[in-house]
Amino acid sequence: PQLRAIVRGMPKAELHIHIEGSLEPELIFALAARNGVPLGYESVEHLRSAYAFTDLQSFLDIYYAGASVLLKEQDFYDMTQAYLQRAEADNVLHTEIFFDPQTHTARGVAMADVINGIHRACQDSPVSAALILCFLRHLSEEEAFETLEDALPHRDKFIGIGLDSSEVGNPPEKFSRVFARCRELGLHLVAHAGEEGPPAYIRTALDDLQVERIDHGVRCLEDAELTARLAREQIALTVCPLSNTKLRVFDQMHDHNLVQLLDAGLLVTVNSDDPAYFGGYMNDNFDAIFDALPLGLSHAHRLARNGFIAAFLPQAQKDAFL
Ligand code: HPA
Ligand code: ZN
Repeated sequence: PQLRAIVRGMPKAELHIHIEGSLEPELIFALAARNGVPLGYESVEHLRSAYAFTDLQSFLDIYYAGASVLLKEQDFYDMTQAYLQRAEADNVLHTEIFFDPQTHTARGVAMADVINGIHRACQDSPVSAALILCFLRHLSEEEAFETLEDALPHRDKFIGIGLDSSEVGNPPEKFSRVFARCRELGLHLVAHAGEEGPPAYIRTALDDLQVERIDHGVRCLEDAELTARLAREQIALTVCPLSNTKLRVFDQMHDHNLVQLLDAGLLVTVNSDDPAYFGGYMNDNFDAIFDALPLGLSHAHRLARNGFIAAFLPQAQKDAFL
């Protein structure tokens, strides 16, 4: 109980949050009404009861349906402002926010409305916030290149590039050329790998895409040599405990490998992924692991500190937070 209070009060950095995954059912309904978008669910309760996932794809289908209510710049602003208020309440001092522009531009929403709405909310918040544009890996590399071109007039409003959506069958190397271009542009690089996909995807994310952090990465432990490399190079893993249990990467929190990851010397961080869908924000994720796993105060400090160590911030700013 005392440990829980300390953990909840610790300064935190969040490095793996999809802003579309912060859309709460109530806001989905409010935006659907405001925009006249038909929803296939008759009430907030019906929608919430559909949040019973069996794997990543069963989640993504509902996540993209929820995002269909986002049409106007103000919608993106309102969604982001709501997330930042929750982050602030959880003592998140810095957050690096993923967004999926292709989910919106495919429906005719302008790239400018997506980026400007999210960015304006970040500027209006007391929480330090930066944006990471994600390519959808179930789409083609050519479409990723088109999305990059479309976003470049807004280059000053995002700091990095990520890779998300359906992992298995869409390996990182499918996006080698577009990530090389993003590297030339001075963008930070990250990719989801080793959530449902094999350790080989973590390797190609590092070697072919040259990413600086791995999102999820929990399957690395299946490959001892890869695990040793991640530890040696102190490549951060942005682990999302509630996401992993909701998407059945682990059956129960008790089965999560977070302690083994820490014991292997890895730079593990704790994050919420899609908090509106997976049952909670940052402090809920910390509560869940501290309730289920043999973790103590030293782990709490290490996990919270790792978030700042792995952040894309100048060292002086990290020092100011730590
Ligand atoms: N994995 C892949 N794609 C995603 C996720 C995730 O956990 N959340 C939102 N898009
Ligand atoms: Zn994710």
